[in-house]
Amino acid sequence: MDTTATIWMPQQASTIASEVDALFYFVYWISIFFLAVITIGTIYFAVKYRRRGERDQLTTGPDGNHTLELIWSIIPTLIVIVMFAWGFQTYLKMNVIPKDALEIKVTGYQWAWVFDYPEGFNTGGELVVPKDKPIKLLMHSKDVLHSFYVPAFRVKMDVLPNRYTSLWFEAMYEGEFQIFCTEYCGKSHSEMLGMVKVLSQQDYDKWVEEQGNDSGQPPEVKGEKLFTSRACNTCHSIDGSKSVGPTWKGTFGSTETMASGETIIIDENYVRESILTPNAKIVKGFNPVMPTFQGILNDKDIEALIAYMKTLK
Ligand code: CUA
Repeated sequence: MDTTATIWMPQQASTIASEVDALFYFVYWISIFFLAVITIGTIYFAVKYRRRGERDQLTTGPDGNHTLELIWSIIPTLIVIVMFAWGFQTYLKMNVIPKDALEIKVTGYQWAWVFDYPEGFNTGGELVVPKDKPIKLLMHSKDVLHSFYVPAFRVKMDVLPNRYTSLWFEAMYEGEFQIFCTEYCGKSHSEMLGMVKVLSQQDYDKWVEEQGNDSGQPPEVKGEKLFTSRACNTCHSIDGSKSVGPTWKGTFGSTETMASGETIIIDENYVRESILTPNAKIVKGFNPVMPTFQGILNDKDIEALIAYMKTLK
């Protein structure tokens, strides 16, 4: 851990962070300087040349001053050129992704983040990465616009449906760093959070190895974990209260009336269909707003969720 955090800015935890801050402070202090000069000048002249007597005592200003005009044209132009050149250089660094970057797929949906690793497993809400290694995030959304933001890394990118966007970073310190969604995306936008967990390369390798084997874990225990890590809980309650979607309490095995008027018994097939093609059969009184979990939950995950649902009597 270092202590680069200030009252204005979080810790600089990625390789690009100090450059982003340097550019920001350059623009910031130039703006403060001119704000001060212009404000003080305005007040000074307003007082010094205020009208004291009759109208015919108005002062006459100069007709023009080429030196002055050149100065106030050339100096700001130079400052703006420096801002552009510097900004463009940093922009390129942030957008040209190193070839050896580790690629992780990010899926945003209402209201959670899922991270798909090249080894074939995924995690919900927690992005685990190795330290000192460029990480490329290839991102897309299942539903509406989201935005992926890690303040400590100074990286932010919109996450769109039907289109990939990407960003990259290299974490400098081990630890946990907050992820925010910074595009208003509905009721639980403010709860669309996550954590980047930075590990040493050895710990990361060990972690990857552990991901493959969740054997020995009872399905309903795994299902309970998935229920929160994949954010089912943002729309489905387990205490019987009505939320965005139907509650899971006492739902399995019950008979429900669909929006179409037909009556259906909530069994394994209905739950599976509702996870993969949520809008096929909507329970009466609810809106068709659930995103598909195709590609986020595999067969084993769905079985685990069903097993958990069965325990909610
Ligand atoms: Cu997703 Cu706001």
